[in-house]
Amino acid sequence: MALLSKDATIREIHHRVKNNLQTVAALLRLQARRTAIPEARIALAESVRRVNSIALVHEALSVSVAERVDLDELVDKVLPAIGDGATAESRAKVRREGNFGTLPAALATPLVLVLTELVHNALAHAFDPGRAGEVVVSAHRSDGELEVVVGDDGRGLPEGMDLERSTGLGLQIVRTLVDSELGSALEVRPRPGGGTEAVIKLSLRGR
Ligand SMILES: Nc1ncnc2c1ncn2[C@@H]1O[C@H](COP(=O)(O)OP(=O)(O)O)[C@@H](O)[C@H]1O
Ligand SMILES: [Mg+2]
Repeated sequence: MALLSKDATIREIHHRVKNNLQTVAALLRLQARRTAIPEARIALAESVRRVNSIALVHEALSVSVAERVDLDELVDKVLPAIGDGATAESRAKVRREGNFGTLPAALATPLVLVLTELVHNALAHAFDPGRAGEVVVSAHRSDGELEVVVGDDGRGLPEGMDLERSTGLGLQIVRTLVDSELGSALEVRPRPGGGTEAVIKLSLRGR
């Protein structure tokens, strides 16, 4: 270790954290396979997905310079992994539009987790089984601000759903991270043209 620079040391640690998280995900996956109770299997699969997303952030950080991550490259790796498993019946496609650019490590992890939940929700809830559709993650960066929209062209939110009172764990995680880690606001609304869109506006000033 003494021969490594500080940057190289930090990268090496991110590499080890990534390996450990992948082990955790593999253990949870094994557990899920041995579980006969459907709800428990789904809960374990959700944990696998979340841990995998965090592992991908550490993988990106293990090759990063000065703890900054190329979010476009990272998101392009995260998105295909979200559809694996539980949502195999949905034929919806997921794609990125626009550019996130680079972000500091402290923002990358919460943002990737938020995207994981929102995209998974679209795949899991927006489309009838077998129906084709599209989920678009669009990023727009302009002086000091990053706006991210996760939109789908599916069935829309359930009638009368109150986002503030929704008790699902996914949106709870999203709200908490957006609020406390990203210092941003979340809006989930009907998408013009049908479906649902979630909007996050992030201030990047000084970061
Ligand atoms: N893109 C979407 N399209 C339709 N309904 C959605 C969408 N996103 C979320 N929902 C609704 O919001 C609910 C809460 O989501 P969430 O908090 O992630 O919990 P969960 O996904 O475990 O049900 C979902 O059960 C679903 O009814
Ligand atoms: Mg969910």
